[in-house]
Amino acid sequence: LLSRGGRHDDHMGNEIDEQPVVARRVLDALAPSIRDGALWNRLGLPPVEEIDRVAVLGCGTSLHAGRALAGVFARVGRIPTRALTASEAAHEVWEPRTLVVAMSQSGETADVLRALDGLPSGHGTVLALTNNTASSLARRADAVIDCLAGPEIGVAATKTFVAQVLTGACVALSGLSVSGRADAAVLDADLSALAATPDALSGALHAWRDRAADLAADLVTASGFLFLGRGAGLVYAAEGALKLKELSYRWAEHHAAGELKHGPLALVDAGTPVFVVDDGDPRLDVDIAEVEARGGRVIRVGERALRVGGLSLQLPRTGPSWGPLETVVPLQLFSRELALRLQRNVDKPRNLAKSVTVA
Ligand code: AGP
Repeated sequence: LLSRGGRHDDHMGNEIDEQPVVARRVLDALAPSIRDGALWNRLGLPPVEEIDRVAVLGCGTSLHAGRALAGVFARVGRIPTRALTASEAAHEVWEPRTLVVAMSQSGETADVLRALDGLPSGHGTVLALTNNTASSLARRADAVIDCLAGPEIGVAATKTFVAQVLTGACVALSGLSVSGRADAAVLDADLSALAATPDALSGALHAWRDRAADLAADLVTASGFLFLGRGAGLVYAAEGALKLKELSYRWAEHHAAGELKHGPLALVDAGTPVFVVDDGDPRLDVDIAEVEARGGRVIRVGERALRVGGLSLQLPRTGPSWGPLETVVPLQLFSRELALRLQRNVDKPRNLAKSVTVA
């Protein structure tokens, strides 16, 4: 079952490989209608000037995609934005003129449906971002956008994550581009980054396929893993930790790297594997040094630093507002390879379901 390229015996492997194609499909469908606001208008969403805040909600991997999307509204549009765990949404205070973006690949997640049912009247507009436009979620929303991932069979979400981030980014950039609220430089950088995404994803697949397998062989006996990030990279650390625990049944935690010294550093011992999602924040070098000083084994993904003769030279911080999306690829590959070595069923992890219809 251990595979090193080509078609796989499991759906998850194939779905990971499909991500550049999915990204291309999303961009072909949506990118041409970003600039003039056509995509935003086609969805019937209110002008961005009439939106005071954005609340993105979802569960698990869809919530992570939502957090990445929240970064687009916040960084490009400077709109107050929060990402909410759907099962906790009942404890929120809702205000009018809120755009609620409900994220769910299945569109049937009970926690998400219940959160929407609990919204007070006059809260604002609900946009459903889903891989199932005939779903219960779609029926509850004011507007629906298909994330175009195609059928995803593996219980662990992979290509739907990438599709949700990119679809959400296209919609947000479309509304912001005609709003007068957008930071023009960030908007332009994001549009260029969008176009480069399929290549970035396929580059990550090629760069990491064998490396992930070798790492999994090395780390097969590790009992726990840390995932660190900062800023827009943090959500990818969170997704890496979720994938790892879901697939391998090993303990995995994610933290903002700045929190290390406030507790998690105590977990680091000789050989403790620590994945660091590098979004270009130079402070990560210090975080890494802290881990290495305790004997931790750092695996850096998404490097924006060049190492020359032991020195780390930072590349310009040109990452898009949704963060270093391609870093999810090595994290997915590693989780799958580790799970295969541990003889887990990577398509159907124990205790989990593809669509969680109980709240
Ligand atoms: C992802 O790998 C998980 N299987 C899980 O966290 C999932 O993302 C979550 O249950 C939400 O599902 P949804 O996207 O169908 O709403």
